[in-house]
Amino acid sequence: MSGPIRRVGVVGGGQMGAGIAEVCARAGLDTVVCEVDAAAARAARERVAGSLDRAVRRGKLPESAAQDALARLVFTGDLTDLADRQLVVEAVVESPDAKTEVFAALDKIVEDPAAVLATNTSSLSVMRLGRVTGRADRVVGLHFFNPVPVLPLVEVVTSLHTSADTVAAAEEFAGRTLGKTVIHSRDRSGFVVNALLVPYLLSAIRMAESGFATAADIDTGMELGCAHPMGPLKLADLIGLDTVASIAESLYDEFREPLYAPPPLLQRMVEAGLLGRKTGRGFHPYDPYDPY
Ligand code: CAA
Repeated sequence: MSGPIRRVGVVGGGQMGAGIAEVCARAGLDTVVCEVDAAAARAARERVAGSLDRAVRRGKLPESAAQDALARLVFTGDLTDLADRQLVVEAVVESPDAKTEVFAALDKIVEDPAAVLATNTSSLSVMRLGRVTGRADRVVGLHFFNPVPVLPLVEVVTSLHTSADTVAAAEEFAGRTLGKTVIHSRDRSGFVVNALLVPYLLSAIRMAESGFATAADIDTGMELGCAHPMGPLKLADLIGLDTVASIAESLYDEFREPLYAPPPLLQRMVEAGLLGRKTGRGFHPYDPYDPY
């Protein structure tokens, strides 16, 4: 791959994929977002357009820049549209099977052998995803935070197979091109942030489950007592309770520490389809049209 990364692909147009695509387009990059079909691709476009509108309304972005960013984005239901990309960021559901399938397919589709294949996984092994490709040295973790246009951090995750060139390209991309602050982590479940954050969220869920305090009081406690922008149960609702449960399971599988074990209330809420903001109800009720 010669020169800086200008052609980016994003696989998955949910809240993380749409956010990643938005910051790429806002940074002037030619960005293709791939979803499972044309209807999901349209929904991803709406998600990005809604967030760009919000940035304009909040005075963070001129209207013309929002239009330019949207014009740089292509939404597709066909993974082969990513063939000419210099970087592809996978941001599908936090499931080993789903992510493995994407990496195996990208390995066949992306033509440039020096392209970077990145995963936005929160907790799965980057090495295992790399191993399903014939180019594990080009596979790296690029872990963004939700809401992606607002939060300035990216974790760059290096597996035992990732080459130094790939890490340098990922860091240059996230830091210089997107303007994010980069921290580095080895390839251990949860990396730096989720290995610390998720046990805290699970403790709050256990506290609510035991009747120790109400969800509202737990959140108010951490917002007003510790100046967190949102309490732990609101934050779990924002991340998505299915995602929190999947991350907890990966952490527990890796470390076997009780603090990572998903509490029964979390499991029940996921089974009940109460996934937080994206379904309109989690620990709190939401307006489904309000992204956060
Ligand atoms: N583009 C750019 N800026 C935007 C924007 C957009 N699309 N939407 C909002 N903003 C800006 C706003 O202008 C505002 O900026 P100022 O403070 O400079 O005015 C700021 O973002 C906050 O926006 P709002 O006023 O609309 O909303 P809010 O004050 O209620 O904050 C929040 C909402 C940003 C979500 C805040 O509550 C927050 O930061 N919460 C914590 C989120 C968090 O911890 N996320 C990490 C989750 S963990 C994760 O993601 C990793 C994982 O793997 C699970």
